[in-house]
Amino acid sequence: MGHPVLRSPAAPIADPTAPELRALAADMVETMVAADGVGLAAPQIGVSLRLIVFTVPVERREPSEAEDAPEEELTILANPAITVLDPGPVLGAEGCLSIPGLRGQVPRAARIRYRGQQLDGSWLEREASGFHARVVQHEVDHLDGILYLDRMPDLRRLAFTNEAHHILANPPKEAVDHDR
Ligand code: NI
Repeated sequence: MGHPVLRSPAAPIADPTAPELRALAADMVETMVAADGVGLAAPQIGVSLRLIVFTVPVERREPSEAEDAPEEELTILANPAITVLDPGPVLGAEGCLSIPGLRGQVPRAARIRYRGQQLDGSWLEREASGFHARVVQHEVDHLDGILYLDRMPDLRRLAFTNEAHHILANPPKEAVDHDR
């Protein structure tokens, strides 16, 4: 956080089948896995292109998504776009590899449709809700220079990772101010 590339709109990808894009995606997956993350956008490794990678852990999937997505599935999407189907908002916990050590409760659309191009040039289109929808919204935000902190109307719902259980179990009340 603080590097200008994270605050810049990323450039559209002209040819998702280009070999250098495959190498970039491999770098991103490696970075994501090494950091124990579930998603990454190209600007997070300093490349201002509209490319995201993500996975939805089995235990975070909605019941309706359980069978159509295998356990190790990794999604790599160029030029992803989101259509909101249900704006919600729903609050849920997020962290970000570009903002290490923190977690926040972030409002997101409850249900979305998203589409983008895979590295073989084909188009992928899915509907998503729950954690899946949250991950996609978080990563696509990165392509527009937006961080999850920008989406938080209440920074009392921000905590260090090792204190995050407090804000998860007992979100601060809107009208109450605590001294400690
Ligand atoms: Ni992030």
